[in-house]
Amino acid sequence: LRIFIPRDAGAVAVGAEETVVALEQAAAKRNIAIEIVRTGSRGLYWLEPMVEVATPKGRVAFGPVKDTDAASVLDAILADGPHALRQGLTEEIPWLKRQTRLTFARCGIIDPRSVDDYRAHDGYKGLERALTLTSDAILADVTTSGLRGRGGAGFPTGIKWKTVAQTSADRKYIVCNADEGDSGTFADRMIMEGDPFVVIEGMTIAGVTVGATKGYIYIRSEYPHAVEAMNAAIAAGRRAGYLGSNICGSKHAFDLEVRVGAGAYVCGEETSLLESLEGRRGIVRAKPPLPAHKGLFGKPTVINNVLSFAAIPFILAGGAKAYADFGMGRSRGTMPIQLAGNVKFGGLFETAFGITLGELVDDIAGGTFTGRPVRAVQVGGPLGAYFPRALFDTPFDYEAFAARDGLIGHAGIVVFDDTVDMVKQTRFAMEFCAIESCGKCTPCRIGSTRGVETIDKIRAGERVEQNLAVVEDLCNTMKFGSLCALGGFTPYPVMSALKHFREDFSPAPKSLQAAE
Ligand code: NAI
Ligand code: SF4
Repeated sequence: LRIFIPRDAGAVAVGAEETVVALEQAAAKRNIAIEIVRTGSRGLYWLEPMVEVATPKGRVAFGPVKDTDAASVLDAILADGPHALRQGLTEEIPWLKRQTRLTFARCGIIDPRSVDDYRAHDGYKGLERALTLTSDAILADVTTSGLRGRGGAGFPTGIKWKTVAQTSADRKYIVCNADEGDSGTFADRMIMEGDPFVVIEGMTIAGVTVGATKGYIYIRSEYPHAVEAMNAAIAAGRRAGYLGSNICGSKHAFDLEVRVGAGAYVCGEETSLLESLEGRRGIVRAKPPLPAHKGLFGKPTVINNVLSFAAIPFILAGGAKAYADFGMGRSRGTMPIQLAGNVKFGGLFETAFGITLGELVDDIAGGTFTGRPVRAVQVGGPLGAYFPRALFDTPFDYEAFAARDGLIGHAGIVVFDDTVDMVKQTRFAMEFCAIESCGKCTPCRIGSTRGVETIDKIRAGERVEQNLAVVEDLCNTMKFGSLCALGGFTPYPVMSALKHFREDFSPAPKSLQAAE
């Protein structure tokens, strides 16, 4: 009997380890041999800990299976009988079936520590093909796919790689930005824990393309499970000849190292990440020079987000055109969208660009967990704009969101119901910026602190209209005068709240009304 239970941090947080122990004990009591394979998560977090069992028809899912449910679930498996937690064939669960999983195709299915399992599920086909191609041919595939940086900025990956490939230097580097700091995002963590080889393969292809032999994965310290999974996969990849010298018997060498951050949000900004990797405090560097020209240790560097690298193996395995066939406008392919906050069905939903915000929130996430009306949705992390229901027809697309003064960022969606206090949310945005600011430039360092003070005055009902004008003025200074996205994008949540939820601010702020 083969049973699959995630080792994903999200599943572990809700008791996956206890469920494993309880299942083993129940099996021992019944004198039955079971094999428990620890996988990543399928991303249906309301069903975690999810237990799957292999059957001739495919895997059958049960969830959420607490340790106290383990014995009855095992009995239902053995009898092939009904159970309240039985979800049917996993692949037929509508929430999963509606997705287009290109990047997350294997996540939750394979054993993330087994190269053989990865290969058995089409792993390493992209690298094997890339090794038969010239650098130009690989770059042509990446460009054809239309892939844009999945960290948030959406810069074309093909152009970035080409810039590094064409810059001559004695050494080049590949850096994976796994400092996933946005609130409501977890896709990087999920794929590192559930399918680490796809990230390694993507980085290796990047190395082969631009002529780099060394790569670093910079993971935030809050992700110990991902650090462990990546380290285990790197060691397994080396043993199997996929990392090190003469990878896959070729003339290419490529190796990887994991580096762990120390908890600064700004180290997700590429230049401060490079500073941190070099052993210094994470302070933003002025651009130019771009990292593509002068990056890690002053050498040309491809620095991409986890999801950008993870999209590459599918593309290089012959899927460049297939990838580009999904999506809308200039947003090609699929996006692993993360549904979080006050939602009924939170999790990872990978789909083609073009789906509307309303479909994602009302239909897929099922509205709010509390059952109250949805009032505001923040898309793109703490620097993203708040969208009201009136903008729910916005398609998930880089340009469509930008046209409405928003951003899709790393595709984190956080939902709030009608009890949300938007004045409090704007204060949070400014406070977050004040705490996380690296301090290098004045608009961000001083502006965010002044922002907090001014919003406090508004909350106290002090000269509300005049202070709102001060906040708007501060936002413009920060937006146009900051050196990096932290100071430059903090105005997005603030200005969107002022624009779409003005009633919370005046004449008396909502928080004040509540107190009365
Ligand atoms: P950016 O637009 O300055 O740069 C995007 C990327 O393209 C960078 O890697 C840059 O080096 C590269 N690039 C730009 N021009 C180039 C050229 N001509 N040739 C080669 N490469 C070039 O944006 P930035 O500051 O890197 O990122 C801002 C975004 O980060 C925001 O949109 C935000 O959504 C996102 N973000 C994501 C977070 C996360 O946890 N994933 C956290 C915070 C922000
Ligand atoms: Fe540092 Fe803020 Fe300036 Fe970015 S905007 S460089 S985080 S002070």
